[in-house]
Amino acid sequence: MSHINYDTHKRGIQSLGITIDNLTEELAFSDGKVAPTDRCYDSQESNPATCSLHGDYQKTRLWMAFRGRVSEKSSRCPGCIQKEIDVAEQAKVALQTEMLLGEAHIVPRFEACEFSNYDVVCDSAAKCLSIMKAYAAAWPDMLANGTSLILTGKPGTGKNHLVTALAKDIIRNHQSTVLMTSVMRIIRAIKRTWSKESDMTEDELVHLYTSRDLLIIDEVGLQYGTDAEKIILFDILNTRYERMLPTILLSNLTPAQISDAIGERLTDRMVEGGGTELIFNWESYRKQKGQVAA
Ligand SMILES: Nc1ncnc2c1ncn2[C@@H]1O[C@H](COP(=O)(O)OP(=O)(O)OP(=O)(O)O)[C@@H](O)[C@H]1O
Ligand SMILES: [Mg+2]
Ligand SMILES: [Zn+2]
Repeated sequence: MSHINYDTHKRGIQSLGITIDNLTEELAFSDGKVAPTDRCYDSQESNPATCSLHGDYQKTRLWMAFRGRVSEKSSRCPGCIQKEIDVAEQAKVALQTEMLLGEAHIVPRFEACEFSNYDVVCDSAAKCLSIMKAYAAAWPDMLANGTSLILTGKPGTGKNHLVTALAKDIIRNHQSTVLMTSVMRIIRAIKRTWSKESDMTEDELVHLYTSRDLLIIDEVGLQYGTDAEKIILFDILNTRYERMLPTILLSNLTPAQISDAIGERLTDRMVEGGGTELIFNWESYRKQKGQVAA
């Protein structure tokens, strides 16, 4: 689990949310709508005014006289208010993106992976890249329909590269919650919750895996020890299926072997809702680049 504490991010996001709400109310007031809390003012007028940046607008003024004193409130230029809302919204999105990227558990090796730095090494690679890009572009529909993907094939062909690029894309563009993990890590994390010292219950951990918008599970088929471990994985995948949440599996196994490993029923369910199996069957990029196997 992440060791980074995002409390300051959370507080920042919250306070920007309040700022945006207040400015939105102020914008409505500049359009003549008086909030219930301002009904104490008994007089209202509207006069032409000019902003040096945005030109002419109508200035609304509320006031009341009480025991010889006048209390009043005037609206500001709507263009200026809108600009402040845009700035606050951008800052909020930037903070949320940073937090969501941190919580996605993208490992340092893949941090720089983008669609734009994926080399099209052959026609099949071009097809896989274009399907992954299309999935990212249609993410709101994929999320609504729970459309899952299975990426299988030879080592070093860029399955992790493309899935990382996808994760970053949907976080940046849609502020979705993503978690990248592996079968082994899930099983280890679940086993940790069985210890008395664990700060998380098994239910809380399963909730983490079954509540993110997108769960990416690497190394499917590598580790199938006990039946208990199979049941854990089945439970997570099945709960996500029932909640119509998309899941992406990465594996070196063939589609048939994956069906053996996680059960045909689950693989069937995973490709329901337009999901598909992408087969990465070309030579390792690591070999082509003369890299040591990563
Ligand atoms: N077509 C490509 N263009 C650019 N970089 C690539 C490409 N394919 C792979 N890589 C790079 O090669 C390395 C290995 O790729 P990656 O880990 O994504 O492969 P994989 O298919 O997940 O392999 P494995 O099955 O062994 O896990 C990564 O650093 C990745 O960024
Ligand atoms: Mg991989
Ligand atoms: Zn203005």
